[in-house]
Amino acid sequence: MPYPAFIAGWPMMGRQPSGTDPIRQLIDEHEIFMEALNDLAAAMLLVPEGARELPPGVFATAEAIWRAVNEHLNVHFVKEEEVFFPYIERMIPGARVKFQFLHVDHDRLRENFEEYTEALQNYRAFGGSMGGVRTIRLVAGEMIRWFYYHIIAEDAVYFDIAERTMSPEESREVLGRMRSIEARLREQVAPFVEKREDFRPPTPADL
Ligand SMILES: [Fe+2]
Ligand SMILES: [Fe+2]
Repeated sequence: MPYPAFIAGWPMMGRQPSGTDPIRQLIDEHEIFMEALNDLAAAMLLVPEGARELPPGVFATAEAIWRAVNEHLNVHFVKEEEVFFPYIERMIPGARVKFQFLHVDHDRLRENFEEYTEALQNYRAFGGSMGGVRTIRLVAGEMIRWFYYHIIAEDAVYFDIAERTMSPEESREVLGRMRSIEARLREQVAPFVEKREDFRPPTPADL
């Protein structure tokens, strides 16, 4: 699914570069991440019904997207949870309740990601099977669908905030806090991602 036209055509898109605008930066990250999800959706379409193996290249794409999702959950989500959501909840009366669904979405998406991780690990460990391939397709499809909904909903909230305009001081403060969180998290996520790349669950021969 391409990035929705109504979002792409939103007035704010002719806006400042993301380097100085924290809202723009989060939206840019959504756009990049949507591209990764589109790649995963396209790869899953290459899997024939009833297949026992993933076609060449599809598993590699599925693993590459695993890394993109892992980073999104561990950096982008945390910037939202620790900086952006508290900011809008201070700024808009009733926002904690009004935007509660965004927190609920994050919990659900983390669960979707766990299922996706497990499906890939099982495929690696036990080899291809009709059930294993079907599970990867199902959990990837669910994860993609919920991410699409979440990002579209979140962008609508972000544009709403942008229209109310942050003061330059608030913008600087939010951006500064997001940057320091990002620097801290990237140090934590990078070795984790490397470790996960090397990680191979035991194969049946090892057991
Ligand atoms: Fe989010
Ligand atoms: Fe987001």
